[in-house]
Amino acid sequence: MTPKTFKIKSFGCQMNVYDGERMGELLGAKGMTVAAEGEDADLVILNTCHIREKAAEKAYSDVGRLKREDGSKPLIALAGCVAQAEGAEAKRRSPLIDIVVGPQAYHRLPEMVEAAVLGGRPVDTDMPAISKFEAFPPRRRANPSAFLTVQEGCDKFCTYCVVPYTRGAEISRPWGDIVVEAQALVGAGAREIVLLGQNVNAWRDDPRGLADLIRTLAMIDGLERIRYTTSHPADMSDALIAAHGEIDKLMPYLHLPVQSGSDRILKAMNRSHSTATYLATIAKMRAARTDIALSGDFIVGFPGETEADFQATLQIVDEVRYASAYSFKYSARPGTPAALMEDQIPRDVMEDRLRRLQERITANSTAFNQSKVGSDTQILIERTGRRHGQMIGKSPWLQSVHVETAAAIGDLLDVTLVAALPNSMTGAIRAKAAA
Ligand code: SAH
Ligand code: SF4
Ligand code: F3S
Repeated sequence: MTPKTFKIKSFGCQMNVYDGERMGELLGAKGMTVAAEGEDADLVILNTCHIREKAAEKAYSDVGRLKREDGSKPLIALAGCVAQAEGAEAKRRSPLIDIVVGPQAYHRLPEMVEAAVLGGRPVDTDMPAISKFEAFPPRRRANPSAFLTVQEGCDKFCTYCVVPYTRGAEISRPWGDIVVEAQALVGAGAREIVLLGQNVNAWRDDPRGLADLIRTLAMIDGLERIRYTTSHPADMSDALIAAHGEIDKLMPYLHLPVQSGSDRILKAMNRSHSTATYLATIAKMRAARTDIALSGDFIVGFPGETEADFQATLQIVDEVRYASAYSFKYSARPGTPAALMEDQIPRDVMEDRLRRLQERITANSTAFNQSKVGSDTQILIERTGRRHGQMIGKSPWLQSVHVETAAAIGDLLDVTLVAALPNSMTGAIRAKAAA
């Protein structure tokens, strides 16, 4: 029987969230609806992430849990980066899986569902020239802060990373398509757009680059804020840096992963930047936009990382004074060059380094948040808080701000930041900004 209801569970990065929304719209256009909360769906899509350890095992155990007590099961589609990495092998490993669909093949999902209904077990992990984006229906729904993928894939081949294999080569969506989608999102209620890409700042539609795109999107009436993520240090152009000083709607926040503070390790990671070039970019950014909040990603325990290398990482955290940062234990990924490197670091050493790094990051994020206490600013309300009457919004610097207010999701609210915690702020209401 053709499924009537579906559920999509997305793991991993924001691009998967975006893809999940678009797959939902594609199925919606075929007449299917999202299963009600707590109800069984006829079709379940697991939109998986392959970035770190045990990703595939976790996906298979999630699949196993979809089997119901009475022995029945929904149609099950394995999507996302685990699907891409496992391919047809996924069907051998789990007889419960009906559909295997890689991130560049989502436009084929409706016909794959039809084939599965007829008893087939279709697999599509091609990376075709026709992009999935062309098949997605126009945007009709949007969160106040909406994701918009503009670039996908990666040609950087950092030696630890699976993304170039699971997402394919770098592609940029055409200028016109992005502008149309941004307008539709704003028409559907978005007040902020977050441009997404694995290397978003590598986006181009010759001769234009990301700064030009942001400048044009900033002209859309009703769009109040623009962000972009994730950027690679090697693609941080002067034009994009300058844009931060020139475009009011471009928020003062930059996620620019450095991964390590040791040049020796950066080289072994094939990162194509050094600590010096990275710090020079940060200095230019601070000159263009003095209040920029900086964020980053770190990997501890890359093969061969010594205590001295790790100390250099701690040092760069203090030097950059990150407002926030993500840190991970190195995870050997099958098929990546680093997995074959000698001198893999023992787990307990990695854990100890991660703990020390996180302490240092927390000290910096606390200091950043405290530096904002007393500031008058604006937040975009994105969700309700835990307490009655409490709402949570985002500051320009991407801090979560808790505030007691009657304002609604999607409102922009003038607040004073009155207290700081390591991961959030408390705000006090001033007056409601023009809604
Ligand atoms: N394209 C982005 C995001 C890549 S994945 C970028 O280059 O920044 C997000 C983060 O996961 C990376 O920045 C890195 O810090 C981390 N990561 C990737 N592969 C990893 C691995 N094998 N082990 C541990 N962390 C990893
Ligand atoms: Fe992975 Fe490096 Fe590409 Fe980021 S730049 S997605 S870490 S290969
Ligand atoms: Fe994960 Fe794939 Fe994103 S591996 S981080 S879902 S690109």
